[in-house]
Amino acid sequence: MTENQLREHIALLGKSLYDRGLAHGSAGNISVKLADGWLMTPTNSCMGRLDPARISKLDLYGSLVSGDKPSKETFLHLAMYQERASCGAVVHLHSIHSVAVSCMDGLDAENVFPPITAYAIMQVGRLALVPYYPPGDGALADAVRKVAGAHHAVLLANHGPVVAGSSLAAAVSAIEELEQTAKLVLLLKDQPTRYLSPAQVAELNRRFPG
Ligand code: 13P
Repeated sequence: MTENQLREHIALLGKSLYDRGLAHGSAGNISVKLADGWLMTPTNSCMGRLDPARISKLDLYGSLVSGDKPSKETFLHLAMYQERASCGAVVHLHSIHSVAVSCMDGLDAENVFPPITAYAIMQVGRLALVPYYPPGDGALADAVRKVAGAHHAVLLANHGPVVAGSSLAAAVSAIEELEQTAKLVLLLKDQPTRYLSPAQVAELNRRFPG
């Protein structure tokens, strides 16, 4: 895709997330890698009303080249790109079920979700939890950097999910699966549940690597 097509794609998928209630107000941000830097949604922008021409363009180090002031989470996105060579896009949301799980006590910081469905294993994998820091804080980006090499999906405590993908479509698909899985975890919280066995999880990882 050309840069202009990617700008349109960000606006299209941002609106899709917004229209389905996965993004609200000015929460969330999207970035996409370019050959000479990356595109980042502007700070305080509404995902449902992004203007493709005003999306921020950053250089490889995260400095603004053109467009509006970029998201306050720019350095969090940059950490994902720098730690994951295959990363082509990053999506961060405040989607409600994922945020609810991010506020729960006693989570496994290396693997937040139990092995509940095949697609959760295939698209989200081992979801890491990072401690709470204020939005845009350098310590939040540092905490994400520490786990990003081993996890493409990260849950920010009392905040929301961040997912890296090879493309924007892949990152959006995975963060939708993450949100759906969080909803299932909450729905089944008080129900006796049959989880996938370690052998079933291993088989999925073998059939659907990466
Ligand atoms: P920005 O508006 O700066 O992108 O921040 C929104 C957000 O989701 C913070 O975590």
